[in-house]
Amino acid sequence: MITVCPSILSADFANLAEEIQDVEKKGARCIHLDLMDGHFVPNLTFGIPVVQAVRKYTQLPFDAHLMVEHPETYIDGLAAAGVTYVTVHQEACVHLDRVLQAIHDAHMKAGVALNPATPVTTLEWVAAQVDLILIMSVNPGFGGQRFLPYAVEKIKQARALLDASGNTCAAVQVDGGINRKTAPSVKAAGATFLVAGSAIFGASDRAEIIRFLQA
Ligand code: DX5
Ligand code: ZN
Repeated sequence: MITVCPSILSADFANLAEEIQDVEKKGARCIHLDLMDGHFVPNLTFGIPVVQAVRKYTQLPFDAHLMVEHPETYIDGLAAAGVTYVTVHQEACVHLDRVLQAIHDAHMKAGVALNPATPVTTLEWVAAQVDLILIMSVNPGFGGQRFLPYAVEKIKQARALLDASGNTCAAVQVDGGINRKTAPSVKAAGATFLVAGSAIFGASDRAEIIRFLQA
């Protein structure tokens, strides 16, 4: 089963609650929240207070993608805000194993994201304890960028790594440049969580593109 996660980075920030309710109504199964701190990535979005504020407007699970330094300092706040998935960047965690444990201790699912240049093999020793590996198919920080084709091979490697470690329940997620053209190849490679920002929020028929990505 494919889970489509609209990224609200491309939503109208002045009407976030309505935008989230709109994609829920149109078939989304998850809401992807891009937290950026202006340090780990050269852009700044929103933090925990905004996540808290929009929580009451949807039943869908929240999937927080932390493009921040010191992501461990966000864990308790995200748990209190009702987030289901917390994905930290491998590159932002000196003590990745400890951070993953802390996310689980806070009763959330733990994901690890890899920048385009970071090899999948860096997750060899934590593969058994993650709930999700996020393969970035653009350099993180902005919506609407061009899909990097070599991400397809990394998705296959991530799926193989999870399977080899016995963690067949964990998912591979892909984020960046996902649209009508790129979705078929990432699904064929084993991605089951598809993040899409501009392709969904910029579409004239959001229900149709969500259905297409989900199929
Ligand atoms: C980028 C973010 C993405 C972003 C994707 O750093 O992590 O979630 O919203 O945007 P699109 O789908 O437009 O590439
Ligand atoms: Zn993201």
